[in-house]
Amino acid sequence: MKPKFYITTPIYYVNGAPHIGHAYTTIACDVMARFKRLDGFDVFFLTGTDEHGQKVEQAAAAAGMSPQAFTDGTSELFKAMTQRVGISNDDFIRTTEDRHKRACAELWKRLVDRGEIYLGGYEGWYAVRDEAFYDEGELATRPDGTKVAPSGAPVEWVVEPSYFFRLSAWQDRLLAFYDANPDFILPATRRNEVTSFVKSGLRDLSVSRTSFKWGIPVPGDPDHVMYVWLDALANYITAAGFPDEADPKWDFWPADVHMVGKDILRFHAVYWPAFLLAAGIAAPRRVFAHGWWTVAGEKMSKSLGNVLDPQELADTYGLDSLRYFLLREVPFGNDGTFSRKALVSRLNVELANDLGNLAQRSLSLIARNCDGRLPDSGPRTQDDAIMVRLADVLLDDVRALMDRQAFGDALEEIWRVIRAANAYIDRQAPWALRKTDPVRMAHVLRVLADVIRTVATLLQPFMPEKCGAMLDQLGVGADARDFAALAVPLADGIVLPAPQGVFPRFVEEAE
Ligand code: MSP
Repeated sequence: MKPKFYITTPIYYVNGAPHIGHAYTTIACDVMARFKRLDGFDVFFLTGTDEHGQKVEQAAAAAGMSPQAFTDGTSELFKAMTQRVGISNDDFIRTTEDRHKRACAELWKRLVDRGEIYLGGYEGWYAVRDEAFYDEGELATRPDGTKVAPSGAPVEWVVEPSYFFRLSAWQDRLLAFYDANPDFILPATRRNEVTSFVKSGLRDLSVSRTSFKWGIPVPGDPDHVMYVWLDALANYITAAGFPDEADPKWDFWPADVHMVGKDILRFHAVYWPAFLLAAGIAAPRRVFAHGWWTVAGEKMSKSLGNVLDPQELADTYGLDSLRYFLLREVPFGNDGTFSRKALVSRLNVELANDLGNLAQRSLSLIARNCDGRLPDSGPRTQDDAIMVRLADVLLDDVRALMDRQAFGDALEEIWRVIRAANAYIDRQAPWALRKTDPVRMAHVLRVLADVIRTVATLLQPFMPEKCGAMLDQLGVGADARDFAALAVPLADGIVLPAPQGVFPRFVEEAE
């Protein structure tokens, strides 16, 4: 049986249209999911929409719609974005679905049965924009006297009856859990942030609201709706079949990676494992927090008019180039500034030049001088052996990096081999061997074909369409593109289709 791998994106708020920040998290997960599938795993890849809460209720009211009609519409926008950026998700969850309401109610009951939830009263600051509670000490005061959350969101003073989760009782057990699972929070800097937050002391968490209606009712007390983060986080177990533990999907739990932005790490790395452990359910194996994209140093926002639309970017530069750029430009985990100039430069230098030209040069030499058939591998010179070896060890190197979500480093490893192949072709100059030693020329071209095959195979998760086209041109069948297939040499003499450039240069249109 294949080993299982469960990966999730955050579920997106439906109060606005998707932008490149959302597409980023989703694309990163997609790359990871595709990598694991190619590496022999049975993958379950989940994304979806977070549809309850006061923020959505307010957005619906502002649009003059019922919350359900409103979320039906915006959820579709996220589904469409998911398709547009070539996402291979296995499920799309909406928190307004019945399966989710059932799972939340069951989670709640388990927490109540175990004495982890009690009824009290909440009095404190709440930011609707973040759907988060804040302590006085965390707030800043604006010149006009109003208070704002660390995120800049306005806060309001809330007084209402509320159920509480005994988070304070979980402080030591959470710290012990982080200790026992050193890779639970990645990158490591984030882990330190979370542990210091937990060490600074945890207070019981308000987990229900009575001042609005758009949420999942608390079992047995329908004046309350569940706190939207408890509802939202539970999506990850709903989709795995909870509470039906006989459901075969439940074998995917605990999730291997929850991919999240740094802004929502606390919910995933503190509240979520506490809720689960308190309910007697296994905690996820990892939460990876990535950084934020800004545009010219500014946060993307509707009011600044600088929101980047993934659809437009994919239309302009090509979807695979966009996917490549997002994961290549910034080490995963760091913040980055989005720039079209940087995107075009990577497209032209790394994709068109380094990779595209290497393939095009090698394949057109084969087409013209080897009857369009894949040459045999001959006796290897030392230079050949070094080149082949670099490609052969690549999978292990890349796998180790991918297992830590180090996408940029994995791409850099692959590019080291691509650059080495470009140096190899220049040194060996097969175009000159054509006249002096055609047999040797054929052997050099075979080394290159094998290297390109390895590189294209490993790059499929990042650029599925372009790498598929490259593998077509190398005569690699659709059923021989997983990583295990790399161990089987391509058959000598197979007829290759006529080569075609896969990565054209991007030429800026004149203004
Ligand atoms: N609904 C919650 C998540 C609940 S998960 C149980 C939420 N939704 S969100 O739509 O506001 O954000 C979803 C994700 O998009 C977050 O991981 C966030 O970090 C990411 N991004 C939003 N803007 C971003 C950038 N500008 N750059 C990178 N990622 C960004 O939070």
